Amino acid sequence: MERVQVPLAGREYDILIGPGLIAGAGTHLAPLLDRPRVAVLTDETVAARHLEALRAGLAGAGITMTALALPPGEATKGWAQFSRAVEWLIEQKVERRDIVLALGGGVVGDLAGFAAAVLRRGVRFVQLPTTLLAQVDSSVGGKTGINSPQGKNLIGAFHQPSLVLADTGALDTLPPRDFLAGYGEVVKYGLLGDAEFFAWLERHGPDLARGDAAARIRAVRRSCEMKAAIVLRDETEQGERALLNLGHTFGHALEAVTGYGDRLLHGEGVAIGCALAFELSARLGLCSQEDPGRVRAHLDAMGMKKDLADIPGDLPDADALLGLMAQDKKVMDGRLRFILARGIGDAFVTAEVETGMLRGMLADALAAR
Ligand code: GLY
Repeated sequence: MERVQVPLAGREYDILIGPGLIAGAGTHLAPLLDRPRVAVLTDETVAARHLEALRAGLAGAGITMTALALPPGEATKGWAQFSRAVEWLIEQKVERRDIVLALGGGVVGDLAGFAAAVLRRGVRFVQLPTTLLAQVDSSVGGKTGINSPQGKNLIGAFHQPSLVLADTGALDTLPPRDFLAGYGEVVKYGLLGDAEFFAWLERHGPDLARGDAAARIRAVRRSCEMKAAIVLRDETEQGERALLNLGHTFGHALEAVTGYGDRLLHGEGVAIGCALAFELSARLGLCSQEDPGRVRAHLDAMGMKKDLADIPGDLPDADALLGLMAQDKKVMDGRLRFILARGIGDAFVTAEVETGMLRGMLADALAAR
């Protein structure tokens, strides 16, 4: 088992990474609990796969558990299921010193974390992420929240978990497409800040996809280490944390036009967005002309979407995409901030992107479909 520490003063926590952490959760939770009971928020798909293992493991440690399974999918991450979850936690008489467990992917983790942030003005919560995306990104760093009809993650709070248990065995039950979508976030870490990690992924990515447990643990650990280091320096995203959004400005616009669903998963949008960010960086003369091709070649080797041409169905024109990008949370004083790169492993934040250049790049990418 690997351990990554997030040493935020007064709110430090560990991320444990390895197989068997769902069944073994009781051992790690017991020292945190004032009384031996927890309330679990999960979704129906994850509950069918993992809830009994969690219940049995907790019972073995003398901890009782009550659980609410929400419908799976992004549509759950809104006011309706959020208020249902909060009311349920109140009915369960969850007290200030109790702990809420979030068992599932990014939707459950974000919603449960936000519920914990506002319940009784804040109770502790523990993340048990079951998807690759949640293990390497959304369960770490304390961003919690829900979507508004106007956009993703527009309602929320920073609320750090007290512990993250990333059971890499849970990745074995993921559909391959979901695994690869999460892998889009893993690649992002290499691209934004660690060229050696990206080169390692070029060599070992296919092993990860095939189920190599040691390679998976190493990839999750390195991703969490990088995220923890950035969160430590910039918890509330005043600057550097925005680097974690590499590929996301493009990705969110593409998710919006494809309906936040099966046509394009979040991690797929991020992967295509990373390729576009490198394309833009190359056009601006910031990185070498070879870098975008290298990014796309790796995504291609992994069997992932890498271009706008890989998105099924129609897409709107460049101006419509630009309009959606203007909704991005990184907009400041009406100026969109972009994550661009001077090379693989060397990303930075800038507001200096000329709209004409961006429109031209998007128009070319759309024309290549
Ligand atoms: N997922 C980006 C962040 O946590 O900052």
